Amino acid sequence: MEYILSPSLLACDFKCAGEEINKIDKAGAQWVHIDVMDGVFVPNISFGIPVIKSFRSASERFFDVHLMIVKPERYIKEFKNAGADLICFHVEATDQVQETIDMIHAEGCQAAIAIKPGTPVEEVIPYLDKVEMVLVMTVEPGFGGQKYIPECTDKVRELRAIAKARGLDLNIQVDGGVDDSNVSVPLEAGANVIVAGSAVFKGDVNTNVKAIMAQFPEA
Ligand code: DX5
Ligand code: ZN
Repeated sequence: MEYILSPSLLACDFKCAGEEINKIDKAGAQWVHIDVMDGVFVPNISFGIPVIKSFRSASERFFDVHLMIVKPERYIKEFKNAGADLICFHVEATDQVQETIDMIHAEGCQAAIAIKPGTPVEEVIPYLDKVEMVLVMTVEPGFGGQKYIPECTDKVRELRAIAKARGLDLNIQVDGGVDDSNVSVPLEAGANVIVAGSAVFKGDVNTNVKAIMAQFPEA
């Protein structure tokens, strides 16, 4: 299994976002996590399509776009055109889960589905063989810098067990409150894609990226 770090740009210094992206590239993080919030699905607004386009001009890395928006099916083509390589949406945000997965694949992107801390894994089980990744939120979505919710670890463990039993090569991502002091918890439970925002951008980016990635098991 491949272990991947996907630093969340939500915590970067936006006035020099291009440089921040270069720093995570250089430090060796494989993906870039991009949080889109609409002020409706979550009580916060981040940024949207034109901003992602400008990030794209700064990096060739894999863009992991986490949509925290209602009815994500409305904007799949736009996010793909802005530069998304993977589009992740919340099962709580649409009643057209399979259709949205199909739209993402039709655009040539990887598809992922996310669940909030209060949403049981049962909600995503029917789609495990239809997506490339499941995102288990480990904080309530909407803000960076919150504390990891330990109860969410069991969902990772359960999903990894199901994926294994079914022989699925599924990426499992955790997002929220992860840093170099607790990353071993979701890793041990079976997560292989780690999002970190404040833990990467607070202080020295190179040191922070290396401190987290040093704990990845040998693939
Ligand atoms: C929260 C976002 C996260 C956030 C993580 O809704 O989905 O990606 O940026 O930030 P930290 O790592 O600071 O918890
Ligand atoms: Zn996120």
